[in-house]
Amino acid sequence: MHEKVAILDAGAQYGKVIDRRCRELKVASDLLPFHTPASVLQQKYDALILSGGPQSVYGQDAPSYDPAIFSLGIPILGICYGMQLLNRATGGTVHPKPLREDGPCQIDINTNSVLFAGLPSQQTVLMSHGDSVDQLADGFTVSGTSNGLVAAIEHAGKRLYGVQFHPEVDLTEHGKTMLSNFLYGVVGFSGTYTSENREQKALAYIRETVGTKKVLVLVSGGVDSTVCAALLRKGLSPEQIHAVHIDNGFMRLDESQHVATALRNIGLELQVVNASNDFYQGTTQIDGKQTQPLVHIVHPEHKRRIIGDTFMRVADRVITSLGLCPEDVYLAQGTLRPDLIESASHLASGNAAVIKTHHNDTALVRELRKQGRVIEPLQDYHKDEVRVLGKELGLPDAIVQRQPFPGPGLAIRILCSEQPYMTPEFAALNESLATFTPADISATLLPVQTVGVQGDGRTYSYLVGLSGARNWDALFSLAQAIPKQLHAVNRLVYVFGDHISGPITEITLTHLTPDVIQQLQHADAVVHEELVRHTLLQKLSQVPVVSFPVPFGVQGNRSIGIRTFITNDFMVGRPALPGRDIPEQALDTMVDRILKEVPGISRVCYDLTSKPPGTTEWE
Ligand code: XMP
Repeated sequence: MHEKVAILDAGAQYGKVIDRRCRELKVASDLLPFHTPASVLQQKYDALILSGGPQSVYGQDAPSYDPAIFSLGIPILGICYGMQLLNRATGGTVHPKPLREDGPCQIDINTNSVLFAGLPSQQTVLMSHGDSVDQLADGFTVSGTSNGLVAAIEHAGKRLYGVQFHPEVDLTEHGKTMLSNFLYGVVGFSGTYTSENREQKALAYIRETVGTKKVLVLVSGGVDSTVCAALLRKGLSPEQIHAVHIDNGFMRLDESQHVATALRNIGLELQVVNASNDFYQGTTQIDGKQTQPLVHIVHPEHKRRIIGDTFMRVADRVITSLGLCPEDVYLAQGTLRPDLIESASHLASGNAAVIKTHHNDTALVRELRKQGRVIEPLQDYHKDEVRVLGKELGLPDAIVQRQPFPGPGLAIRILCSEQPYMTPEFAALNESLATFTPADISATLLPVQTVGVQGDGRTYSYLVGLSGARNWDALFSLAQAIPKQLHAVNRLVYVFGDHISGPITEITLTHLTPDVIQQLQHADAVVHEELVRHTLLQKLSQVPVVSFPVPFGVQGNRSIGIRTFITNDFMVGRPALPGRDIPEQALDTMVDRILKEVPGISRVCYDLTSKPPGTTEWE
C-alpha cells in the first residue's frame, strides 16, 4: 500500500473540502488535475476520488481524462460529476432530467452497501445537479435513490462506487461516515496520516533543507506565521532563526508583546521592531505624486498603499541591519495547503492570495524566491490543523485561536474624515430612506463613507444608521432591501440606545493619530474580552471593531461599530444574528462596557450588512 488517495479535480467547488476530509480521517491525499494519466496514478495511489464539477459529461467542455483509470483495478469513488462519468465511461448513460436537485434532499439507501454500512436507510444529503444517471453500466446496481432519481451506484466486485450528492460537506448528515467507509471499508487504508507523523515530516523537511544555514521568518502575529516560527524553533537551533516582527503601530492592544512573550516562552527570541513612527510619517508615490504622511490621509486605498510600501522599506532596512545575504539564508513562510491548492488552481480567484503577498514582497524576499530559497513547512496543513499544531508546539490559545487580522491593521478600521460626506443627493436620500421603515424604526443617513462590493466592483459610499425598536428580523430585512434600491448605500448598522431624530450632518475631524488608535484599541479589547467570555471566537469567523467619526451631537466624540462576520471563504458572508449566533446579552455587555469604559464614544452600533453589499472590513 502507498497509503495515499488521489482526488481528481473536475473543477469542484468542494475539492479542497474532500482533501480536508480525507486528511481528517488520517488518510494522506493529493488533489490532482482531472487528466492525470493512469500510469502516474498507479505508481503512487491506492484509490481515486473523482470530484464534482460544473460541466456535463457529454458536453464539449467536459474535462478530459485518461479512460485507463477505470481499469486500474483500484477502488474509485465518483462524487456528483464523478459518479456520472464513472457510469458513462464504463458503459452506462447520463441524461439531463426535467427536475434539478439543488440543496438538501432526502435519500433512501441500501444499508447493505459497504459505503453505507451502519447508517440509517433514510437521510439528508446535499445535492447539486441537473444531469442524472439513466441506464446503469454493466455490473452496477443502484444503492441509493432520491425523488425517483439515482442517488448512488456501485459495482462492489470491482470496488467502483458513485454518489450523486456531496458526502464531503456538513450538509450531508452522514457524509463523513460514508467517506470513512470508502477509505477504510472499501480501500483498506490503515490511517497512518496522523498529526504526529505530519509534524515529524515537516521537521525533517526543515532540517534537511536548511542544514546549518539561517532562516528568516517575518512574524505578523497571525496564526500561520507564528506557528511557522514555533515549528522552526523545534526543528533548528535558536541561533539559526531570525524571527522578526514589525510593529506598524496599528496592532491591537498589547498584541506585539503577546506574540513576543508566547514565542519567548517556547524558546524563540522574536525581534520586535517598533516602526510606528515610520508608518505614521510614511508616504508613497500615487499617480506620480508624493502623498502626504499617513497621519494626514483619509482615503482607504491611499492608507493601504502607504502602509504596504512602508512595510517593504522597513523590512528591507531590518534585513540589511541583520547582515543577511541571500546565499546564507532561507525565508520561511506560513503558506498553508489551501493557499497552495488555490494558487495552483485555474478556477480559484486569487483575491486572498494577492492581498497577502504584497506584504512579504521585499527586495530580499524576491531574490530568495528567485533562488528557490523559500521554504513552506506548513504546506501540508489546513487552517484548523495549524491551530492544533500550534497548540501542540506550546503556543497559548490566545495566539492559536486568533481570528484573521488584516495586514494594515487598525489603520483600516478607523474611518478618517476632514469634512462630512454629503453629496447633493443627501437630503433626498434621507427622505427616501423614510419610505422603507415601519413607524418604530428610523433610518438615518450618516455623513461618512465605507467600502463595499456591489455588482462587479468596489464601492465607497454611505453608511445608514437604523435606530428604534430592536426587532432583528425587521432590521436585517431593511439591511437587505435598502442597498438593493438605494445604490448609494452599501452598509447599514443598528444604533444602540435612543431613537435618532433629525438628520446627522456633523463629523469629528479624525486622522490616524495615537489618541484615536488608542481609543479603538480600548474598544476592541472590550469586545474581544466579551467574545472570549462567551466562547464566540471560533463560532464567528471575524469580528472587526471599527471607529467612525460621527459624534451624534457630542462635540469631539466618535462612535464604534461592531462588525461580526460568518463565512467560509471571506468572498461572501453574513453578520451573526443576535439571539441565534450571538447572545443578545453578550452584545448588551459590549455596548455598556464600551460606553462606560472608553472615553469619547457617543454610540455603539451593530453592523447588519452581508457581503455583498458590504465588505468584511469597513475600508
Ligand atoms: P474584505 O474586507 O475584503 O476582507 O471583505 C476579506 C478578508 O481579508 C482581510 N483583509 C486583509 N488581509 N491584508 C491582509 O492580510 C489586507 O490588506 C487585508 N484587507 C482585508 C479581512 O480582514 C478579511 O479577513
